[in-house]
Amino acid sequence: MILVTGGAGFIGANFVLDWLAASAEPVLNLDKLTYAGNLENLAALEGDARHIFVQGDICDRALVDRLLQQYQPRALVHFAAESHVDRSIHGPGEFMRTNVEGTFTLLEAARAYWSGLSGEARDAFRFHHVSTDEVYGSLSPEAAPFTETHPYEPNSPYSASKAASDHLVRAWHHTYGLPVSTSNCSNNYGPFHFPEKLIPLVIVNALAGKALPIYGDGRQVRDWLYVGDHCAAIRRILEAGRLGETYNVGGWNEMTNLEIVHQVCALLDELRPRPDGQSYASQITHVADRPGHDRRYAIDARKIEAELGWRPAETFASGIRKTVAWYLAHEEWVRHVQSGAYREWVLRHYEGDAAAAAGTAGVAS
Ligand code: NAD
Ligand code: TYD
Repeated sequence: MILVTGGAGFIGANFVLDWLAASAEPVLNLDKLTYAGNLENLAALEGDARHIFVQGDICDRALVDRLLQQYQPRALVHFAAESHVDRSIHGPGEFMRTNVEGTFTLLEAARAYWSGLSGEARDAFRFHHVSTDEVYGSLSPEAAPFTETHPYEPNSPYSASKAASDHLVRAWHHTYGLPVSTSNCSNNYGPFHFPEKLIPLVIVNALAGKALPIYGDGRQVRDWLYVGDHCAAIRRILEAGRLGETYNVGGWNEMTNLEIVHQVCALLDELRPRPDGQSYASQITHVADRPGHDRRYAIDARKIEAELGWRPAETFASGIRKTVAWYLAHEEWVRHVQSGAYREWVLRHYEGDAAAAAGTAGVAS
């Protein structure tokens, strides 16, 4: 079996679902169920003996040791993290704890476990670390996309904590020989994306008649990849990636935030038109910019394409259509994740902008 951390979050849950759809190999899923973790994401696996869920913290060394001994996984795929840049600005402590200390704990537990293996099991073991393109910092408009050798220049507490974890993974390979691989992926979107992030926030706010908050001028560029393509890349790296290597994963799909929001509005206009006939784009509101906001991310994915033959299956047009349709079909999921904690976050984070906090800006009555 494989051990997945953070498998109740956005990408982790998609990974577990895709894994079990494609393979008979069981998954042991270790997740703390923070505000971002949601067992409803895994509801399709209810009663499926191949999925074993354990609620727990990756910083809990005794627990991780026990799970490794008890289940003897052949690989560990590490998604668990605090993942939201804006939250890291408000409160970086939890990011250091989970992303840095948690990764350290997993590496030490994996090292002890792997050292005790022998023969084929030892040769086959793999620790895969899931990371982000944000560790590379911000690109100027004319700069070439990030390659794997781009210097690490993290700018937010989130990206700094992920950069630290990448360095730990690298060092555990270099010093102890732990069989690791790392992937640095661009922005994901798709089903089960928590509506604090741009794309699901825009879908959910649009349908609720709320403001669509664009930070600053909205011309920041991100490189968007459908989550299923990210999951396929990780599966491929586990299968054939070289030990100690990092692979950049991205869809060659750079878009400004304004372009993204307009595309989402256009799809909603087509699939769920507003009763007053106006476009959802009329709900767009510019709000104060994020402090230290990175201007542009872009991934050069040639290494994983050439070495491992991975290519995204979705275009942005096909992926975003699927995503919007998924949110329209899962309004109950949205209602359930909009817990007290979620509402508190929205009020606290957007409170500087009265219109957004009131949730009514730009909406025709
Ligand atoms: P997410 O916030 O949706 O999910 C994180 C999951 O980790 C949650 O289920 C949460 O309960 C769990 N978790 C948090 N702290 C934990 C702890 N201490 N112990 C155990 N579980 C804990 O995040 P996501 O968007 O699914 O991202 C998953 C991984 O992919 C992260 O490592 C992130 O840095 C990376 N990544 C994300 C993106 C993106 O666009 N979302 C892009 C590239 C890389
Ligand atoms: P986000 O989804 O938080 O991902 P990341 O910061 O990891 O790239 O944000 C994507 C982009 O959208 C980023 O440039 C910030 C911007 N953004 C807004 O303009 N408004 C919002 O309300 C949010 C959440 C993000």
